[in-house]
Amino acid sequence: MRETVLPHGGVLVNRMIPEDEQGEWLSLSRGLPGWKVSSVTISDLECIATGVFSPLTGFMSEEDYLSVRDRMRLADGTVWPLPVTLPVPGERVGSFREGERIALRDDRDRIVAVMEVESIYRVDLEKEAREVFGTADPAHPGVHRLYASSSVRAGGPVRLLLRPDRGEISRYVLTPAETRRRFRERGWRQVVGFQTRNPVHRAHEYIQKAALEIVDGLLLHPLVGDTKADDIPADVRMNSYRVLLREYYPRDRVLLAAFPAAMRYAGPREAVFHALARKNYGCTHFIVGRDHAGVGRYYGTYDAQKVFDEFRPDELGITPLRFEHSFYCRRCDGMASSKTCPHSAEHHVILSGTRVREMLRAGEMPPPEFSRPEVIRELVEGLRKAGRSSTKS
Ligand code: ADX
Repeated sequence: MRETVLPHGGVLVNRMIPEDEQGEWLSLSRGLPGWKVSSVTISDLECIATGVFSPLTGFMSEEDYLSVRDRMRLADGTVWPLPVTLPVPGERVGSFREGERIALRDDRDRIVAVMEVESIYRVDLEKEAREVFGTADPAHPGVHRLYASSSVRAGGPVRLLLRPDRGEISRYVLTPAETRRRFRERGWRQVVGFQTRNPVHRAHEYIQKAALEIVDGLLLHPLVGDTKADDIPADVRMNSYRVLLREYYPRDRVLLAAFPAAMRYAGPREAVFHALARKNYGCTHFIVGRDHAGVGRYYGTYDAQKVFDEFRPDELGITPLRFEHSFYCRRCDGMASSKTCPHSAEHHVILSGTRVREMLRAGEMPPPEFSRPEVIRELVEGLRKAGRSSTKS
């Protein structure tokens, strides 16, 4: 069956080094300059190499970086909203030049990738924060991470030797080529992607199923890369998704897979980034609800929906499905939103993410109108176990 959606930029990037060439690459790379990179860089490398970030074939050059920062496009005009750059630690600056190769290592000192350095440049961290995150406030988690990074960046194409081991979760980290194959096998022509860094609560379920009414399949695609410390760990969430799917979703309409990117908390720009990545996975539609990829009060409730209007549909190549803030209404006796419910707020069951996390960590059950009891039980148990193992270690 013909594929219904082309990757962003037209070609699905593959920068993995085939197994039979790995020995040769390893011996060539051993003497190269390099350093141990952060977990965010490890996840960026995996996303670049497996085509999640198509058309990127490596870390951005200065020209692409500036163009992305200032106009949400690569230098050639392709829509791309977030910088994907390699910070060079202060002590490594000057240890290699443009035109040379560097070897990037993981925390166990294994070479994971090789990069051909095309561009070395210095960035203005505060300017990047203002443009990309819309704030220079160091209390914003994305800005905080940015300020802790080096202002010297290196860009150039990468080749990946080793994909990160994410333990139990690894088997869910399907590449775009793999999800596209699964969609084809299932005969899904139209697929909606759902990004989340949270457990799936009733509001999430409501908008997913509303979307599923008009397409063939749902890619439930929780982010499993770095998140801020108080978000619920990915492995705990993963079990809760499995339980929910088993009890409440038709098997043949949903694919659960993990999205290995790191969370940026960049609100509107990250919503576009999330959508383009899901297009690479083969999705035709993408859900954008309230305050997508937001944090605190940095973004307006629907800013992440409005940003899509800045681009022509053919430049995006994936259709955003915009959803109003949804909730359970006791008078309606069902899920609803301000678009469908005439009753006042006192009848609505609404809890903030922070409040829910506090309740879960205290072993309390949020009301069943907010979250399915099966999901809550799984989360409370998972957090209890995680707490126990972290106090042990
Ligand atoms: S995110 O950072 O990954 O966007 P979250 O997991 O909370 O956070 O949200 C996943 C998706 O569901 C996003 O598109 C978000 O906008 C949407 N969403 C979350 N809660 C609601 C809600 N109550 N009503 C409508 N959309 C929501």
